[in-house]
Amino acid sequence: MIYLDSAATTLQKPASVAAASAWAVNHLASPGRGGHRPAMAASEKAFACREAAARLFHVEDPERVVFTFNATHGLNIAIKTLAGPGSRVVISGYEHNAVTRPLHALKADLRVARGRLFDRQAVLEDFRRELDRGVDLAVCTHVSNVFGFILPIGDIAALCRERKVPLIIDASQSAGILPIDFEALEAAFIAMPGHKGLYGPQGTGLLLCGADPVPLLEGGTGSESRRQSMPEFLPDRLEAGTHNIAGIAGLLEGLRFLERRGVADIAAHETDLIRRMGEGLAAIPGVEPFRTSSPEVQAGVLSFRVAGRDCEELGDALGSRGIALRAGLHCAPLAHETAGTLETGTLRASVSAFNTRREIDKFLQTLREIGSTFG
Ligand code: ALA
Repeated sequence: MIYLDSAATTLQKPASVAAASAWAVNHLASPGRGGHRPAMAASEKAFACREAAARLFHVEDPERVVFTFNATHGLNIAIKTLAGPGSRVVISGYEHNAVTRPLHALKADLRVARGRLFDRQAVLEDFRRELDRGVDLAVCTHVSNVFGFILPIGDIAALCRERKVPLIIDASQSAGILPIDFEALEAAFIAMPGHKGLYGPQGTGLLLCGADPVPLLEGGTGSESRRQSMPEFLPDRLEAGTHNIAGIAGLLEGLRFLERRGVADIAAHETDLIRRMGEGLAAIPGVEPFRTSSPEVQAGVLSFRVAGRDCEELGDALGSRGIALRAGLHCAPLAHETAGTLETGTLRASVSAFNTRREIDKFLQTLREIGSTFG
């Protein structure tokens, strides 16, 4: 199988990730629950993971790195801390349902800084306009999960800082792939999954907290047990219940892999693969790839569609020939609406550090074989 669905979950991981998770199941108990060796070892493992994430994302205090179940969990904490009914919230036109559904549930007053696909200046101007009209909160994805469009997050963060508007960043598609400097961005929160570009197991995520959060869950923390409200301090304030220590142990190995290999090296590798894929797709009659020639504007995700062919059917046809990618709306109807692909959806190919040029060529060849009738 050629796996091209890393925007959903990276499947090929460093071998140390599964090994560490398996070891943790047999050797680690619960962080903060008991002074015995397996509990203490679990606390040390969790703290090592916080420290590794703090180094990667430039977080001065590792205790502001909070474990979540996934990015959706972190985004819900962040959004429900900073927005409520009627809050005026500006979002980009590329947000995932993990952002838009909580905001709709809260009955927030949404404004969309839509811009145009791959036009960073247009997105920035739309954010500036909406921020100047007056908003209470901004939420922006760093990279579109559908198109790989890299939004100008540093400039958007600067606009928010100047206007003192809190910013929540969804780093689901950028964590481990693009540099993220938490201290420089001064975002209120940055949410990310552990199971994509950080190469951790599913069921892990991180929330970097610049603002004081409101807990989404209440429960035991192993600290201040007499108190009947959640502790004020992080990470305990947000980490009720037993940790996913097997996931955290695996995530630590994913972070160590990134430290060894280097995020910049992975980004260059993915950019090379996506450029090759985009050129190859553009050369197949009837295929419409959504791509840009500027590598700084597109990460390792590429959507395409084929004239006259249903995306889901074509996705299934590729799947039956050993090419794993994702077709449809990718839980991001807003992004498709912005790009004009809401009616058709797209096929989406997304890469990781473990894909090769040979795999891209094989994917293109398979598509050509299926599509001898395109056009
Ligand atoms: N949000 C993930 C994706 O884009 C699951 O596929």
